[in-house]
Amino acid sequence: MKHYLVTGGAGFIGANFVKYLLKNYQDIQLIVLDDLTYAGNLGTIKEELKNPGVAFVKGDIGDPQVVETIFEKHNIDFVLNFAAESHVDRSIENPQLFLQTNILGTQNLLEIAKKHWTKGKDENGYPVYREGVKYLQVSTDEVYGSLGDTGYFTEKTPLDPRSPYSASKTGADLIVTAYSETYKLPVNITRCSNNYGPYHFPEKLIPLIIKNILEGKKLPVYGDGSNVRDWLYVEDHCKAIALVLHKGRPGEIYNIGGHNEKKNIEIVKLTLSTIRRLMEENPVYRKALKISGDSLDWISEDLITYVKDRLGHDQRYAIDPAKITTELGWYPETKFEDGIVKTIRWYLENQDWVAEVTSGDYQHYYQQMYGNR
Ligand code: NAD
Ligand code: DAU
Repeated sequence: MKHYLVTGGAGFIGANFVKYLLKNYQDIQLIVLDDLTYAGNLGTIKEELKNPGVAFVKGDIGDPQVVETIFEKHNIDFVLNFAAESHVDRSIENPQLFLQTNILGTQNLLEIAKKHWTKGKDENGYPVYREGVKYLQVSTDEVYGSLGDTGYFTEKTPLDPRSPYSASKTGADLIVTAYSETYKLPVNITRCSNNYGPYHFPEKLIPLIIKNILEGKKLPVYGDGSNVRDWLYVEDHCKAIALVLHKGRPGEIYNIGGHNEKKNIEIVKLTLSTIRRLMEENPVYRKALKISGDSLDWISEDLITYVKDRLGHDQRYAIDPAKITTELGWYPETKFEDGIVKTIRWYLENQDWVAEVTSGDYQHYYQQMYGNR
């Protein structure tokens, strides 16, 4: 039986990954380590936590005691590091927390994994590890910086992070690479484009827009809305990570993306029209609306408001996924037109989850970011 340490498993992608593993793999033991920051919510994995094969530990990936105890108690084979401060806007306000969690937290996990997996040394002094172990760092396409109108990020694109968030993720990638080179620790790094899907915290573009439409609030579009992101359904990302973990060549980096570039303004307009259509087709969905009345005419582009641009806003991201496709046979299964409808339906049907995750400091955050809109 394999033991997986999944950090950040109460957040958006980590929780979707926990669900994906349990659905698709048998005889596995999962240990979820999460500090339950504003972005982590145990309710997201409440069903999974009933499974005797899943254990939860609340704690910081940067705390040596917490991570040591997990390795002493469980025979960990795989570490998947999803835990991070993940929001670019928050990194602009508080960069230090991002360096602390994303870089130092990663190094702490690497160090303790190295210690527990080492079973001896070779003739050159390199550690020799227990068979079958691996550390996987969940990274991001943002480490490559920003593209112009053409071109794609490949694994060979030079690192050029521009926000405190992406700089911290780059720092983490470099320390992972250092453990791979210096200590021959078996690692992989995955670099994915923007994810969307269920359990996405409503500070990020798509879930924020859905939440605001349902509340009749303005839809804040940064700058002129022309920035491009390359969107991937979260389950396709989870499938790629599982493939890299089990089949990826140690020491390799794999880019993940589905060739699905969209301008932010297109995303906002599509979300508006899809919500309105779903409500017209199925009046039950109107229950999700926070304002009363029969007319849906107010669900229109009049809600869009162009606001001050994000500082240092990267213009365009686009992934070339040729390596993971040719080496590991990965391809995205969910077309954007289907994924966005599935996602919107999920939010319409899971307003309790939205209320739960926004019950903390969310109102304060929103007020600071967007004022009284
Ligand atoms: P998220 O913010 O939704 O979740 C992060 C989780 O990590 C939360 O559950 C939080 O409680 C936990 N956490 C934060 N600090 C911690 C700490 N010190 N110790 C333990 N747990 C801690 O983030 P996400 O969108 O699910 O992203 C997961 C990972 O994927 C991140 O590493 C992110 O950089 C990367 N990534 C995200 C995207 C995306 O589009 N969301 C795309 C590519 C890569
Ligand atoms: O590319 C991968 C990255 O995608 C991940 O590494 C990050 O963790 C994840 O948060 C995401 O970063 P972005 O900055 O691209 O995502 P966000 O949802 O914050 O913004 C998407 C785009 O929408 C971006 O160009 C900024 C814009 N935006 C965002 C918000 C929240 C708006 O126009 N208005 C908004 O209110």
